[in-house]
Amino acid sequence: MNIQDELQATIDALVQKGKGILAADESSPTIAKRFQAIGVESTEENRRTYRSLILATPDLGEFISGVILFEETLGQSTDDGVTLPELCVQQDIVPGIKVDKGKLALPNAPGDEISQGLDGLELRLKGYKQQGARFAKWRDVYHINKATPSLLAIQANAEVLARYAAICQAQGIVPIVEPEVLIDGDHSLTRCAEVSEAVFHEVFHALHRHHVVLEHMLLKPNMMVPGKLNPQTASPHEVAVQTVKILRRTVPAAVPSINFLSGGLTPEVATANLNVMNQLDPQPWELSFSYGRALQEPALQAWKGDAVNAQKTQAALYQRARLNGIARYGKYGEDMESNL
Ligand code: 13P
Repeated sequence: MNIQDELQATIDALVQKGKGILAADESSPTIAKRFQAIGVESTEENRRTYRSLILATPDLGEFISGVILFEETLGQSTDDGVTLPELCVQQDIVPGIKVDKGKLALPNAPGDEISQGLDGLELRLKGYKQQGARFAKWRDVYHINKATPSLLAIQANAEVLARYAAICQAQGIVPIVEPEVLIDGDHSLTRCAEVSEAVFHEVFHALHRHHVVLEHMLLKPNMMVPGKLNPQTASPHEVAVQTVKILRRTVPAAVPSINFLSGGLTPEVATANLNVMNQLDPQPWELSFSYGRALQEPALQAWKGDAVNAQKTQAALYQRARLNGIARYGKYGEDMESNL
């Protein structure tokens, strides 16, 4: 298969009605934080046990088309010796891989950060592909503060994201491009929208400069929401309308799907927001999910590191995946929350 056909086949497998992506690619410090919240030590064996358990959720492939894994997970296996990427394939789920190496302070831009990991990326991708990965993810973050994000941070991060995406496509790996304007702070929804518009615009400008094929990538953005320290909350309708407005201004119609991150929203709010977006007028792209916390939080709470809770853990993940699958059609209702 030539590279363009290979990329298209992966896009077709990832972008399906009623389905979205599970982000299970927490880095070592992040998974340690998630485990700490449920009183579990973050050892390699505990991470393997937990991730094998959630990926083995019966019929997860009904609502999940792709899973983003962390590097360590690509090389791990179930108790029966099935590699975790192979377990995904058995579930009819495409395995993917987080490839950025986290972020550092951006010199000469106080308060801003830049994501790392371009050096050696081509070689790493070849290895990940041999381990079964067909798509990748790279996350850039933008902090909203009085003076941030600076123009320098917006431009430098866009350049890095575009270089990553171009390197992925050259290797036949579909890039998920993730610019995340963070929810931290007390800013308004309007400020989040202004910053996001500037960020997304610059990202697509850079993707164009680097000749990234927009048909063969996915965008993973934040929703337009007020900062979490802002006492004013926004309704799902307000979030949906503002989010779609900003995306329509900045994201070309050639992009097949927009898969939101949950970014600290509760599972219920993340589902409700996506649901309303899918009730608005038809858009040029699919509006879907690529949630980490909003899919996994109830499962982690149910698990608590105890094998006795295996079934409850899988049931909790299945339920969130199912509700987000329903939200893809705009047919979710709060009353569905109790039907476990
Ligand atoms: P959240 O949905 O928890 O924000 O995670 C998505 C993700 O992949 C962040 O990089």
